[in-house]
Amino acid sequence: MTATETVLGAPAERREGREKVTGTARYAAEYDSADRAHAWPVPATVARGRVIAVDAAAALALPGVLAVLTHENAPRLGDPDDPVLAVLQSPRVPHRGWFVALVVAETLEAARAGAAAVRVTYETEGADVTLTASHPEAYVPDSANGGFPAVTEKGDPDGAFASSAARLDVGYTVPPLHNHPMEPHAGTARWEGDRLTVYSSSQGTSAVRAELARLFGLPEDRITVRSEHVGGGFGSKGTPRPEVVLAAMAARETGRPVTLALPRRYLPAVVGHRAPTLHRLRLGADADGRLTSLTHEVTTYTSRVKEFVEQAAVPARVMYAAPTMRTLHRVAALDVPTPSWMRAPGECPGMYALESAMDELAVEVGVDPVELRIRNEPETEPESGKPFSSRSLVECLRDGARRFGWERRDPRPRSGEEGPLLIGTGVASATYPVLVGPGVASARALPGGDFLVRVNATDIGTGARTVLAQIAADALGAPLDAVRVEIADSDIGFGSVAGGSSGTASWGSAVHEACARLSGMLAGRSEPLPEEGLVAEADTSGKADAESPYARHAFGAHFAEVAVDTVSGEVRVTRLLGVFAAGRILNARTARSQFIGGMTMGLGMALTEDSTMDPAFGDFTQSDLASYHVPAHADVVAPEAYWVEEADDHLNPMGSKGIGEIGIVGTAAAVGNAVHHATGIRFRELPLTPDRVL
Ligand code: MOS
Repeated sequence: MTATETVLGAPAERREGREKVTGTARYAAEYDSADRAHAWPVPATVARGRVIAVDAAAALALPGVLAVLTHENAPRLGDPDDPVLAVLQSPRVPHRGWFVALVVAETLEAARAGAAAVRVTYETEGADVTLTASHPEAYVPDSANGGFPAVTEKGDPDGAFASSAARLDVGYTVPPLHNHPMEPHAGTARWEGDRLTVYSSSQGTSAVRAELARLFGLPEDRITVRSEHVGGGFGSKGTPRPEVVLAAMAARETGRPVTLALPRRYLPAVVGHRAPTLHRLRLGADADGRLTSLTHEVTTYTSRVKEFVEQAAVPARVMYAAPTMRTLHRVAALDVPTPSWMRAPGECPGMYALESAMDELAVEVGVDPVELRIRNEPETEPESGKPFSSRSLVECLRDGARRFGWERRDPRPRSGEEGPLLIGTGVASATYPVLVGPGVASARALPGGDFLVRVNATDIGTGARTVLAQIAADALGAPLDAVRVEIADSDIGFGSVAGGSSGTASWGSAVHEACARLSGMLAGRSEPLPEEGLVAEADTSGKADAESPYARHAFGAHFAEVAVDTVSGEVRVTRLLGVFAAGRILNARTARSQFIGGMTMGLGMALTEDSTMDPAFGDFTQSDLASYHVPAHADVVAPEAYWVEEADDHLNPMGSKGIGEIGIVGTAAAVGNAVHHATGIRFRELPLTPDRVL
């Protein structure tokens, strides 16, 4: 094999790995300069009302404090696309934690002390922050997140349910969940006349630039946004966040470069979160477990700032061959922080509920849960009737069962006792759609034999720049180390967001096209390259978002083994194994990291991650990592991730599907199903903490 035959799919090491582990990688808050100032925000302490006075005198008297911005003196902004960015524009407090002032100072310490000294007086109004399944203000929206219809119906699901041999009618609850990336949301802004440069911890610089242009009334070409290194986002940096707007405002007001890094405890209120979802599943089946009716109804909340509807009933439209079906979303606008994208929005909570219900059905009809899913495998996408471009769910289930040793399982609940421990195993399916966005890329051949590829990608910890180099090397027929890649700079041109597991497909398609074009230009050429090299460009706008005649989704299967301690109520996951089918896997090393990263986040969702909206204060009780428990190393016992390679010509030039999110989809259901197998008790509310389990 030649180097180019092995470059796609090879376990290439992360290009920025050394910079990260040696601490030389610079993040948004680390662009220092002699004149840089720091900002610290003041969050609202009431759940609903208005600011009637801000007394900044004590703050301004502190040494080092440069300015206190409030709705009264802050620059007037244009209308943003996203109303959560209209910061310091009005006295209105739509939820607790909304920023009502910003202190700018010479040092971080002075800014923080200044923020503590600001006195805000509110006029408070009664707030409603409690979601219930029968909330009187819940309504059916026009569409759910992602533009999906809120309601779909096929046949007569109620009639079919009523006459089904097996019937299951159950509810599940997923609490609010927080993204909490390792690097908090941060921005550093600098103005030079009418030019704005921003270093932003973001999943996409183009989206940040577009919003800053609207807000500050500037043409986009006067704004540069860079996000060279980003310490995670999980969706919460998929849209611009208040800190970048506030940093730019503060920099304009003070004439200084300003950094604003949000304190961890302020994140839950202002960077989005996964909204809680209340699920009702009604499954009807024949005596062999073949579905006759499937209804998935979801009730969730949004804020009063904007409508965001977690599309948790959408995966039910993709998964199983039910002849009658209803999927429905309902939402209530409450006085709560605005929810937003969090890793596998929709699929993650939706598949927890659906895959838990499928397990309950398997027990009810006495069919093995792997076999039950295989029996309900559809020929075409259930809702749309479209053929699948590829669908290897059955292969994932079979391969996973074989690797896991599923055939040794005693199907009887509570059949595995080891002293005080109850041992059980569970399975769940996973799915995530194939998404792709437009963008530009360029490839330059340099006289020395190297290549420079420029694409406005963002690497949020996924290894994006590494896999893009592989895609380029493959298309150029060049060795991997001859390809340099520049990313995460809005001046490169439009790049879509590192979200929806679409990054590699979106940026990669443009990179592939530019490199293939350059390779063609070089092929017939005998004269030496000019000093500046030879450049080819690509722009995939208009192609990338064309509607496919195929239903395109990745699939997977999770297998979990748990040990439930009957003395403490603690659930330990002793094995976690996933098999995924996501087209061609382009980098075996970083792909595995994405899969097990998702599974680990799913483990947290299953066992420890819990957030409660305090009805008295309108605040999330768990707002830091001391109270919001993400898995620690000791909780994660060597998760295993494997994949089934798919050859799918209906995706993109690389033949890949997205892999960033599918790892979290279904994990919590597999764990919950294993807990049922272990204990014989069905818990229908996450997370499975000792107080619930005991
Ligand atoms: Mo991901 S939640 O689509 O950034």
